[in-house]
Amino acid sequence: MNKFVAPSLLSANFACLEKDIEMLNQSQAGWFHIDVMDGVFVPNISFGPPVIKHIKKLAKKPLDVHLMIVDPDRYYQVFKDAGADILTIHYEACTHLNRSISAIKKLGIMAGVVLNPHTNVNLLENIIMDVDLVLLMSVNPGFGGQKFIENTYRKISQLKEMTEKYSPKCLIEVDGGVDVNNAAELYQTGADVLVAGNSVFSSNNPIEAIRSMSYKL
Ligand code: DX5
Ligand code: ZN
Repeated sequence: MNKFVAPSLLSANFACLEKDIEMLNQSQAGWFHIDVMDGVFVPNISFGPPVIKHIKKLAKKPLDVHLMIVDPDRYYQVFKDAGADILTIHYEACTHLNRSISAIKKLGIMAGVVLNPHTNVNLLENIIMDVDLVLLMSVNPGFGGQKFIENTYRKISQLKEMTEKYSPKCLIEVDGGVDVNNAAELYQTGADVLVAGNSVFSSNNPIEAIRSMSYKL
């Protein structure tokens, strides 16, 4: 199975997005990770569909849109129309998660569920067979550049056991505090996709940073 980095545009230069998007097109990045924050579900506000529409025109890789918003059901069509290829929604934001995942899949795009650091992996046992990916937050969502929470390794192992049993094609993605020091161990533990913001965009050589965090057999 393919394993790769999904750089988070939250840490890109918003005044010059085109340059950063072109850099990612040239790099080994697998997806573009796009963080949508509403200032309610998380204490920060980022950007929404109009910005994503412009990113879509330039990006040559799938857009992985991470919705950190309350009541996400209202917006799936809007984000799909803006160019999302993957939509992930928070377990903590959905009262009827099964219905929400079905609604995303009906649009013909990939659907994933996100767990905050405190949310138990066991809670996914009755939804794991319906999702294309699970995104484990390895920081509390809302900001880039935070410290990786070590307990994430335990959650990846638990989740890997669950996906092998019920849903072997389900991808495991990890988001927050990923850098060259922990990438290899995260892949080894079971992660398929590593989101990286700060460690890519604060690097002097982002292409090389992505390469150094890419999966090596
Ligand atoms: C945090 C976001 C992340 C963030 C990761 O709420 O979901 O995608 O951009 O940034 P780093 O890699 O800087 O921790
Ligand atoms: Zn994210």
